[in-house]
Amino acid sequence: MNIILLGPPGAGKGTQARMLVDSRNMVQLSTGDMLREAKSTGSEMGKKVAEVMADGGLVTDDIVIGLIREKLAGAAGNGFIFDGFPRTLAQADALGTLLGEMDSNLDAVVEMRVDDDALVGRITARSTCASCGQMYNDNTKPQPADGKCLNCGGMEFTRRADDNEESLRQRLMEYYKKTSPLIGYYYLKGMLNPVNGLGEINDVQAEIARVLNKS
Ligand code: AP5
Repeated sequence: MNIILLGPPGAGKGTQARMLVDSRNMVQLSTGDMLREAKSTGSEMGKKVAEVMADGGLVTDDIVIGLIREKLAGAAGNGFIFDGFPRTLAQADALGTLLGEMDSNLDAVVEMRVDDDALVGRITARSTCASCGQMYNDNTKPQPADGKCLNCGGMEFTRRADDNEESLRQRLMEYYKKTSPLIGYYYLKGMLNPVNGLGEINDVQAEIARVLNKS
């Protein structure tokens, strides 16, 4: 089963994708993670995308489609979770083509709905363990008082360069201008499944499970 998690920055796509990896052995394909990895290698492409990401803009379609093409070729598991991809109509068309070339298809699009006010609160409170990537949130899941990651014991925590109010405003603008048209695109294909992303993390997971079980 192949699915898209569609939603604005902070909707909970990454959180839910990681839970699906654990519960269903699916493969998470996050273009945000791929781009951050490219950035950290200091490659030419990494340098090109770093500034765009820090400002909250969208990286060009050819770069992200290329990254997805590469990952699809090498990955194996119980289906793919596209997290943060596609983000434009051109990316959506390309995904359809890539899956078609693999004799595969998309089964469901989960649209995670969260108010803008809640997104700002979530994003500005987010931090991550530098060793294992475990996510924390100052409001809902604070870093442990002893300073040790609950998952791996690591003691260094990081915040993303684009997790500030100014970048977030731009990321939201990009979402409404370029990504939200995908809601109509997938609705017309009969694939759109809205879920309430404002609920507790486990409740959102249960709603997503219901969608996947009927798809
Ligand atoms: P990307 O990394 O994809 O970021 P994003 O879409 O802005 O999404 P986030 O990772 O910020 O949020 P999320 O929805 O995954 O929420 P999370 O689970 O972390 O992209 C970054 C940048 O890369 C883009 O701006 C762009 O420049 C570039 N890029 C990436 N893909 C691209 C593409 N396809 N095309 C072009 N450019 C691309 O949760 C957020 C916080 O909320 C966490 O603290 C979490 O603990 C908390 N939380 C989660 N769920 C809940 C809940 N139910 N209740 C309370 N708190 C919750």
